[in-house]
Amino acid sequence: MADKQRKILVTAALPYANGPLHIGHMLEYVQCDIWVRFQRLMGHHCDWVWADDAHGTPIMLRAEQLGITPLQLTEQIKLEHERDIAGFLLSPDNFHSTHSDENRELAELVYTRNRDAGLIRKRTIAQLYDAEKDMFLPDRYVKGECPNCGSADQYGDNCEKCSATYDATELKNPISVVSGSTPVERDSEQYFFALSDYSEWLSKWTASGTLQPEIANKIREWLDSGLQDWDISRNAPYWGFEIPDAPGKYFYVWLDAPIGYIASYKNLMDRRGGDYLDAWRKDSDFELYHFIGKDIANFHTLFWPALLDGAGLRTPNGVFCHGFLMVDDNKMSKSRGTFVSANTYLKHLDPEYLRYYFAAKLNDGVADFNLQLEDFSQRVNADLVGKVVNIASRCAGFITKQFDGKLATQLPSECAADYQAMLAQWPTIAGFYESREFGKAIREIIQIAEKANVYIADAEPWVKIKDDASRAEVQQICTAGINYFRLIVTYLSPVLPSLTSKTEEFLGVPLTLENLDTPLLDHSITKFKPMVVRIEEKNLNGMIEDTKEEAKAFTAPAAGTALADEPLKAEIEYDDFDKCDFRIAKIVDAQHVEGADKLLQLTLDIGGETRNVFAGIKSAYPPEDLIGRLTVMVANLKPRKMRFGMSEGMVLAAGPGGKDLFILNPDEGAAPGMRVK
Ligand code: MSP
Ligand code: ZN
Repeated sequence: MADKQRKILVTAALPYANGPLHIGHMLEYVQCDIWVRFQRLMGHHCDWVWADDAHGTPIMLRAEQLGITPLQLTEQIKLEHERDIAGFLLSPDNFHSTHSDENRELAELVYTRNRDAGLIRKRTIAQLYDAEKDMFLPDRYVKGECPNCGSADQYGDNCEKCSATYDATELKNPISVVSGSTPVERDSEQYFFALSDYSEWLSKWTASGTLQPEIANKIREWLDSGLQDWDISRNAPYWGFEIPDAPGKYFYVWLDAPIGYIASYKNLMDRRGGDYLDAWRKDSDFELYHFIGKDIANFHTLFWPALLDGAGLRTPNGVFCHGFLMVDDNKMSKSRGTFVSANTYLKHLDPEYLRYYFAAKLNDGVADFNLQLEDFSQRVNADLVGKVVNIASRCAGFITKQFDGKLATQLPSECAADYQAMLAQWPTIAGFYESREFGKAIREIIQIAEKANVYIADAEPWVKIKDDASRAEVQQICTAGINYFRLIVTYLSPVLPSLTSKTEEFLGVPLTLENLDTPLLDHSITKFKPMVVRIEEKNLNGMIEDTKEEAKAFTAPAAGTALADEPLKAEIEYDDFDKCDFRIAKIVDAQHVEGADKLLQLTLDIGGETRNVFAGIKSAYPPEDLIGRLTVMVANLKPRKMRFGMSEGMVLAAGPGGKDLFILNPDEGAAPGMRVK
């Protein structure tokens, strides 16, 4: 179908390997996947390379909390990410890691080429130092007020509120996350990329149509206020690659992260027997596009193109930014149960529901995306079940039962013309896919489905079948319906890969654009099986409830950040507090809970009465270590039904989470059942 086959290389942002993928990530990854599948449908050569972002301080911190090495953590998380990628039917050609041989080699290459071009400069600067812990503090080990907008509680590298990037020493009222002390400044030699040399080049590049207008405007503000050179090195201890000519200094994670795109492609080419430079040299005939969230636009539109150019490599043709996922008009929230992990979603709902809803509402802009849960189920049920699959389910039965599974030899005459009109709509729909106006593409396609439904409703094959003289007509009507269905699912195939393969099985033909001009006539189809079921409220509620449970069982903020991450609840009266009945409890049994990652099942003796309690302390205690110990529990908490059974009370524990979670340990002399005051 494509006039000329394009060569396209696509990337999505590399998820950090310190936690699970969630439905916010999926907004980006589904958007990217739809675009990639669309390009392949058009017959273009389109590779999607991707990876985990395995370096940096948050990963170091998280591994420390869990008591494992960063490498172990990232290997474990990669497996989880790969499971969720498959679960959401995403189709990358490669999913690699930035902690790989290829990436080390390429990070060194990009660095040395920039260095040899005179673009790397050493400079001694004041850095924040924790005198109590005797260490330089990486950005994420410092928090304070943003020097740009004044927001409290921001990390030392960039502001989550206004996305300004700055140096940790610029933070106002900084606090060391490691010790809670006020850091001091101490001199240290660092390596800078000469971004300021690139000001003029970037002014042109960012205004050349590569960026969305909103992003180009934002970047213009940065450029106008003057670009600062960019510190690409970090002092040990740091989890990353050591800089070749600078022992004890490491590449900052944001240097080697985007280079991971090249590394993933090199890894793919090494396996396929190709040359990765074909896509990355300056005169490459590949188009290159990055899908990213607006929070990381500056890394991709300033640092990255300059670094690439400095290394003599090609720059992207487009950086496609999207906004953030909101749920019911709010930021995703753990306590509301809307911070839904990919895995939890998949336990309750079909990935194609969300893929469809994202597609139906996505456009090429950077505004936030609102997942309105009620609208979500209504839309999916009305469109996918009620409009699309309904066409096949209304027609297939007649073909199977009355005509031995055989389609008619021709379409009713008015349908032949309608079918041509539907074919003629494809260039418009394809144009919308190409420009990431997926919502507009879906609107066009659903209009076709509506037309098909009206046709079948008016033609009334279920009435006509009662009259033997109309049998041939019924076969033709249903043949038209099945052909409309085939065309509609082909148009939706970038969005709904699983419905596509079910339809291919049902029709016994591959869904491609090439063969769509010729309707299926005099052709045998297989028995129709239901393809998409309705979303039920209980599926959605189950997902939200599970997410809330997970949040309760497991809250592990970085050391020292608990108060900031979890603001204090509203003040209570003494009387409220006095309602709690704290009792000494003896742990008489502790067991693993099948299917629960975080929970242990405890049997507690509170003096003549035993209680069954589920506690989220599995990461901190093997069950056998708990048996026989005393602890404190809230004994009058209303029993709560959990997925695994009834929980009759709550055990008190403290700590940042993970391995460091301590159940309260009363004096040996305390007796079970004793009230604690
Ligand atoms: N590791 C960096 C990217 C390096 S790319 C060389 C990173 N990782 S991330 O896991 O935080 O985010 C990965 C992508 O998911 C980013 O593009 C980010 O914008 C996107 N999203 C993360 N949370 C999101 C939402 N809640 N909503 C929409 N997109 C979100 O940034
Ligand atoms: Zn700010």
